[in-house]
Amino acid sequence: MGESMKTTWIGDVQSGQHDNKEVELKGWVKRSRGSNKIRFIVLRDSTGTIQCVAKRDVLGDESFEQIKSALIESSIILKGTVNVDERSEGGHELVVNSAEVIGPVNPETPFPITESAMAAADGGETEFLLDNRHLYLRTSRMTTMLKIRSSVFGAIHSYFRDRDFLEYQAPNFVAGAVEGGSTLFEVPYFGRKAYLTQSWQLYAEAAMPALERLYTIAPSFRAEKSRTRRHLTEFWHAEMEMAWATNDEIMNHGEGVVRHISSTLLDERSDELETLGRDLDLISRFADSPYPRIRYDEAVETLQGLGVEIEWGQDLDYSKEKILTQDFDVPHFLTHYPKIAKPFYHRVDPDDEKYVLCHDLLAPEGYGEIIGGGERTWSEEEILARIDEEGTPREPYQFYIDTRTYGGVPHGGFGLGVDRVCSWLSGADHIREVIPFPRDSRRVTP
Ligand code: 4AD
Ligand code: MG
Repeated sequence: MGESMKTTWIGDVQSGQHDNKEVELKGWVKRSRGSNKIRFIVLRDSTGTIQCVAKRDVLGDESFEQIKSALIESSIILKGTVNVDERSEGGHELVVNSAEVIGPVNPETPFPITESAMAAADGGETEFLLDNRHLYLRTSRMTTMLKIRSSVFGAIHSYFRDRDFLEYQAPNFVAGAVEGGSTLFEVPYFGRKAYLTQSWQLYAEAAMPALERLYTIAPSFRAEKSRTRRHLTEFWHAEMEMAWATNDEIMNHGEGVVRHISSTLLDERSDELETLGRDLDLISRFADSPYPRIRYDEAVETLQGLGVEIEWGQDLDYSKEKILTQDFDVPHFLTHYPKIAKPFYHRVDPDDEKYVLCHDLLAPEGYGEIIGGGERTWSEEEILARIDEEGTPREPYQFYIDTRTYGGVPHGGFGLGVDRVCSWLSGADHIREVIPFPRDSRRVTP
């Protein structure tokens, strides 16, 4: 038997591509039961599961004993004939004629993730699964999430590349804040201080006069102390920047990419979404319907009408977005936030200086903000005034100011929280469900 190349996937067998044919399946034991004469092994690989029937009188004693003692998560290779069998899960069954155990699991250290271990765990099931995250990844729920996540990343790349955006990379060690000092991670840097970047944006603006339309998908870092269902300290950030664009045009792309992600998931991941109990009609609505645009002031009035205590000028925190979006049926843009609620780079509305030309896109069902973006302050005079007004030192931003000094143009962009989008579209209860190794203020392991 070959131990390296793999040619047959269980998903293809279950979809009928190998009916009545001889195949070699490589995978891991998901379940195993039976007697001293016959074993029913549920084999899994990255594409699915299949029941395999192994008999002592076919395999011979040595091989049968080996496969009989292969514990859950042992890796094995099975050869046999594919039977069409309505009673088996997936409609197919492998009748095994030879078997080999590749990576046996030691009976003294069986696979730790079991119902009883979860129930008995001291710190509770959630902490237990986070401690065993490296092994939890191969369970069906997590595998499903990772497949959805891969399609979301693919959809973002294809959306921007199909529209002539260039992929561009910014440094992750930086000298200044983008989104305010309170969530900056400080790192010792050869006797100086550096920070982990909160956003690609400022360095993207430096390349804007070179590339005009650019995007990235990269990690961003925020020292978020509070642990909520939508905050990570390391998250994946899809950002775009565009020359010669207004707030409305930037929103068109925000809406475009989220709708494209939704329709890609319908094409590629309907089965996975259904496994998670997600209503596909909802996802179709996110893919097909336009996203309304309302002003911040209107949202504040709505919230006040609902009895929520909120003062004009506050940014909306999660508790307020949750209430606001509970009854939305599609994502909504909130535009024109008060200047005092947003960082210096947002462009002041020339029609009313109290506001900036910005937007947040809020996902429905209580999920809240998934995009933040807008037009940038683009003249040298205005950016200097805004930096001084906020009491921010100019020095770390000199490169940013220079972008305006040498041929500044109107431009803008946005950042989309990829993990938040995955969490919303998969209907997860918590953002940590959709990222392989979630990082928060209490956990950097495994
Ligand atoms: O709204 P934010 O802070 O905007 C920016 O960083 C801009 N510089 C982006 C730009 O214009 N290029 O972050 C953008 C998005 C949020 O809407 C949210 O979806 C996500 O990033 N995000 C987080 N996701 C997970 N965990 C966190 N701690 C996040 N902080 C922001
Ligand atoms: Mg924001």
